[in-house]
Amino acid sequence: MVAPGAAAGTPLGTPWPRTATRGADGVVSVGGVSLHDLATTQGTPLYVVDETDMRGRAAALRTAMTAAFAEQGVEAELFYAGKAFLCRGVARWMTEEGLGIDTASLGELTTALSAGVDPARIGLHGNNKSDAEIELALSEGIGRIVLDSLVEVGRVADAAAALGTRARAMLRVTTGVHAGGHEYISTGHEDQKFGLSVHPARAGEDSPALAALLAILDRPELELLGIHSHIGSQILDPAGFAAAASEVMRLRAELAERSGALVGEVDLGGGFGVAYLPGEVELEPERIAKETASAVAEAAATTGTALPQVSFEPGRSIAGPAGITLYTVGTVKPVRLPEGSDVAERLYVSIDGGMGDNIRPALYGAAYHAELVGRTSAAPLVRARVVGKHCESGDIVVHDVDLPADVHAGDLLAVAVTGAYGRSMASTYNLLPRPGVVAVRAGKVTPLVRRETVADLLALDLG
Ligand code: LLP
Repeated sequence: MVAPGAAAGTPLGTPWPRTATRGADGVVSVGGVSLHDLATTQGTPLYVVDETDMRGRAAALRTAMTAAFAEQGVEAELFYAGKAFLCRGVARWMTEEGLGIDTASLGELTTALSAGVDPARIGLHGNNKSDAEIELALSEGIGRIVLDSLVEVGRVADAAAALGTRARAMLRVTTGVHAGGHEYISTGHEDQKFGLSVHPARAGEDSPALAALLAILDRPELELLGIHSHIGSQILDPAGFAAAASEVMRLRAELAERSGALVGEVDLGGGFGVAYLPGEVELEPERIAKETASAVAEAAATTGTALPQVSFEPGRSIAGPAGITLYTVGTVKPVRLPEGSDVAERLYVSIDGGMGDNIRPALYGAAYHAELVGRTSAAPLVRARVVGKHCESGDIVVHDVDLPADVHAGDLLAVAVTGAYGRSMASTYNLLPRPGVVAVRAGKVTPLVRRETVADLLALDLG
């Protein structure tokens, strides 16, 4: 069905948002809203979220997980990882789709609470939580605090005692499973700051994870809900989740043997990979659901323990592909390359944003796809590089993409799959204000986050 006011068009397909279509005039619409009209009314750069796609992704994951674990007779629960992109509008969408919210800072926690999310459906992470974060979490009675160290077991128990409350706690563990798109976003291996290892440092000793679980059980101010493992991000092979699930289940059985306490829940974190480029295939919800459900069931059988309830914390796979960034092209410059380069000439296409609104290419070498979205072109394609307007040569948004040779100043260009870790990791480098975020759905535009202005930046400057 075509949204009111939108021209019918051809679906763009992967990696564009699900409702993205291109009209005969070459103008792309998302959520029934023409990107040309959006650029005119909202300005560029602009983050655009396809609300139908984002909600649909949350719903599809929830359905797949619920179905796969229901087959084993247990419940699966989802928490949207707010670090991917959180604002109050998104927190409400996720709540309406039946997800809780996973937060990792005072800002994320306060945003979720201020959106009216039921505190019981909020989790708090962090390897170095502040007193203010712990106090807010406990005084609001949030559903789960994920403890990340032995020190924190004591800190949270003391804070709960002082507030006369009991903290619902999970323990974050590392399983040795190494998975993910980049070393910086792989968190299951053991040489890093998160969690406690399930492996003993020396033979015959308790593992740091087991020791911390026993310490939690020793503190009456803490209610131990379960064990948490997040192995990394942008993972395309479900085998890592299955391997981590087995390790966590083994630890759960070990704890039960030592203490008699069989914890009720296992959280397998987020990290489900998405397609960033045409031709790539995302890790489908049904595959993750099936593989993790059978790994948990198998481990339960092997260890002779009852099945736990399972939870997940997806961020990227819900927000990423639903979002794009819309830019206006400025300077276009052909650069001749030395002999032996991959192409003889590269067309440098400068846009009105850059590494300030998308740091991922510079930080992780992440690859993106871009297209002109405001017109058709019969010009041949040339090898182009989409670059920003910041003062460094590493300010590259798309390393390699084929664009029409007649790309020129004033053209509209969109970069796909920027909905996760785009706005949430944006900076004001070079004192460039951060772009706003709008949601589009059924021909309607809903502003989610206001565009920052130079006046906003100056307001922080005390002169
Ligand atoms: N749960 C925990 C405990 C996490 O640390 C993370 C991500 C998630 C869930 C959500 O993971 P996701 O489903 O979004 O992959 N800035 C990096 C990604 C860092 C992810 C950090 N933790 C990037 O832009 O690729």
